[in-house]
Amino acid sequence: MAGNCFGQIFKAITFGESHGAAVGCVVDGCPAGLALDADTVRRELARRRPGGSAASTSRSEADEPEILSGIFEGRTLGTPIAIVIRNTGQLSRDYDKLKDVYRPGHADMVWEIKYGLRDHRGGGRSSARETAARVAAGAVAKAFLAENGVTVNAWTRSIAGISAPDPGCGDFDITEKNGFCVPSRDTAAKIAAKIDELKAAGESAGGVVECRANGLPVGFGEPVFDKLDALLAQAVMSIGAVKGIEFGAGFGSAAMSGSESNDRPLAGYAVPARGGSDNGGRISYSGNNSGGVLGGISNGNCLAFRAAFKPVPSIAKKQLTVDRTGREAEIEIEGRHDICVCPRAVPVVEAMTALVLADLMLRGRAARL
Ligand SMILES: Cc1cc2nc3c(=O)[nH]c(=O)nc-3n(C[C@H](O)[C@H](O)[C@H](O)COP(=O)(O)O)c2cc1C
Repeated sequence: MAGNCFGQIFKAITFGESHGAAVGCVVDGCPAGLALDADTVRRELARRRPGGSAASTSRSEADEPEILSGIFEGRTLGTPIAIVIRNTGQLSRDYDKLKDVYRPGHADMVWEIKYGLRDHRGGGRSSARETAARVAAGAVAKAFLAENGVTVNAWTRSIAGISAPDPGCGDFDITEKNGFCVPSRDTAAKIAAKIDELKAAGESAGGVVECRANGLPVGFGEPVFDKLDALLAQAVMSIGAVKGIEFGAGFGSAAMSGSESNDRPLAGYAVPARGGSDNGGRISYSGNNSGGVLGGISNGNCLAFRAAFKPVPSIAKKQLTVDRTGREAEIEIEGRHDICVCPRAVPVVEAMTALVLADLMLRGRAARL
């Protein structure tokens, strides 16, 4: 099975299945000398762990990161950083009944047809448990970016169609405290009521996660196949349950006129003389419909995108499906599941964004003399 490695210079490889011994990552290409310890990784993993809100599964995992290599006396060595997170909260018997039937909305059936066999316990490798490994790798990328003045923040913008107002560059304290990671207490209360309703009906909900990166200078992104927005789209679409991504005004741009859509650069920034380098000045724009990307290159505005997550496919309600013989079957999915993935997906979106930015930052250093 290919495709478990992401990035070109700053690379993350993840491994592990939901009900196997562990999940984990190897981060290759992180420069030497970066201050990093297990607490930094632990803090990020705690944000993804279940139990933060009524929307999340009751599966309880310690999510204790074990750093096996790559760090010496609190600093990266420049060697591969291997991090293991043991699986401790799995209840594999919950999945016995699902051995020969396929859960609607999951990869079960296509996986089995493609590979000829599958680990049916909790979705195996296709489980969102794998995202714990991404968050661990992303913690390293975030530390590297922070050292270079770049911060990445995501939050839940809406759940079940209940939308929070645009927080601008955000009160992130509120997003973490209210459990749903929504930047508004009022919206969080409305969402809580809706989640209770859905839970009682054995249903689930979708939602939107919004992400911003601040402090990006002009120049992140390689302008043909490896555009900043193209790589972010790949990174974010690789997270389970993501069905769409839009940058800046996104799909709304399609209904705008050119003059409405264009973000005008404002007077005050002088482009360095030919061959010269940026003097650290910032370009200001009349707006941010482009989401901080022009021609695949960061334009000095804040990077802004949203990702749409579908409703959690494992619902408590009885559903019709098929078994391996092609006969119709009724299933009732047991086990512990999120009602909406968004609150737990927030750190995953940040992690994937940070991995793209860390890689492009290093690649950018080879772009010119
Ligand atoms: C953080 C996170 C948590 C998730 N939790 C669950 C869950 O508890 N139950 C479930 O059925 N799906 C959950 N999902 C979604 C499934 O993993 C995903 O929908 C499924 O693997 C099918 O992949 P696809 O939706 O990308 O096609 C979660 C996704 C993420 C990102």
